[in-house]
Amino acid sequence: MKDRYGRTIEYMRISITDRCNLRCRYCMPDGIETVDMKEILTYEEIVKITEEAAKSGIRHIKITGGEPLVRKGCTELIRKLKNVEGIETVTMTTNGILLKQYLGELQKSGIDGINVSLDTTNPKLYREITGSDAMSDVLDAIVEASKTSIPVKVNAVLFDLHGDGQTNAASYLKLLRLAEDYPVDVRFIEGMPIGRGKAFPTISSEEVFAEVQKAYPSVSQDTRLHGYGPAKYYTIDGFRGSIGFISAIHGKFCDSCNRIRLSAVGFVKPCLCYGEGYDLKDVVRNHPSQIQTVLQKAIYEKPKEHCFEKEEQISENGNMISIGG
Ligand code: GTP
Ligand code: 5AD
Ligand code: SF4
Repeated sequence: MKDRYGRTIEYMRISITDRCNLRCRYCMPDGIETVDMKEILTYEEIVKITEEAAKSGIRHIKITGGEPLVRKGCTELIRKLKNVEGIETVTMTTNGILLKQYLGELQKSGIDGINVSLDTTNPKLYREITGSDAMSDVLDAIVEASKTSIPVKVNAVLFDLHGDGQTNAASYLKLLRLAEDYPVDVRFIEGMPIGRGKAFPTISSEEVFAEVQKAYPSVSQDTRLHGYGPAKYYTIDGFRGSIGFISAIHGKFCDSCNRIRLSAVGFVKPCLCYGEGYDLKDVVRNHPSQIQTVLQKAIYEKPKEHCFEKEEQISENGNMISIGG
């Protein structure tokens, strides 16, 4: 379905849990108060909402969290969503900690893509960012996943965590080696001022791209389709995977936005930047015939664009963990 600005909305990000097994500094360093399980949408409710969303033109589903793999039965949900009429792709964004364990089940579920969040391949820096020593598990899982037929992407968020204006080019260039050695796309995401992310300046994609260009002069635009998200892709001679940039701040892509978000507690969010939205939990539980009406309202009323450049106007006061990225 089209929104009031003529954008076709066909992508729904579904957060299935607000829990996570990492404590990233820009997300939930001190943990969060988790919500009672009865407040969280059941898998049956998520399937029901997806069926209705598909009737309104949603074609692509992204499963997120918190960390989606910490919720039991996640791969079974993916299998069910793949069977919903009208749904073409179901993908997941995970921190990779449990990925190796679930890779076989994910393959069987028919998943169309796995994005793994990994900001660095430096174990010390990884610990500093995430509070965890499990970086090698994540790397192993990425390598294992790259051997399957599932497309794999690595997500690195660009934040100046030390406030020293350093791009940390060496660390980013090292991450690129994953795309050199394996058929994995490596993507850099400009950090956004949401939740704890407000405390850190973002690093611009342009800055990182300039470093990439210096190190790899053959870098050139890649126009092939790599999913249905906002990233812009490039190839480098000799690399097996592509590299991508999600430049939400310095390369605003709202005019081609195609998505809405459903939170774990059943809140439909038309735009990442704003807290406004609709409660679908009560609707799916008590007035299921109204689900489409609410979804269509959320789609139609999507804001034109984010206002990350004017922080005082950002009305989203929640954390990325409950929004799902
Ligand atoms: P695919 O390429 O289809 O896998 O989708 P994707 O890139 O949208 O998925 P992913 O979950 O990996 O998202 C990567 C990053 O992009 C996350 O940090 C999101 O917060 C950010 N992002 C995704 N969608 C939007 C959006 O609509 N607006 C903004 N500002 N950022 C987004
Ligand atoms: N800005 C940009 N990306 C973020 N993520 C988490 N917090 C932020 C933020 N403030 C990323 C995660 C993951 C994706 C779903 O969102 O690292 O890759
Ligand atoms: Fe869409 Fe809002 Fe993201 Fe812009 S910030 S791309 S309008 S969800």
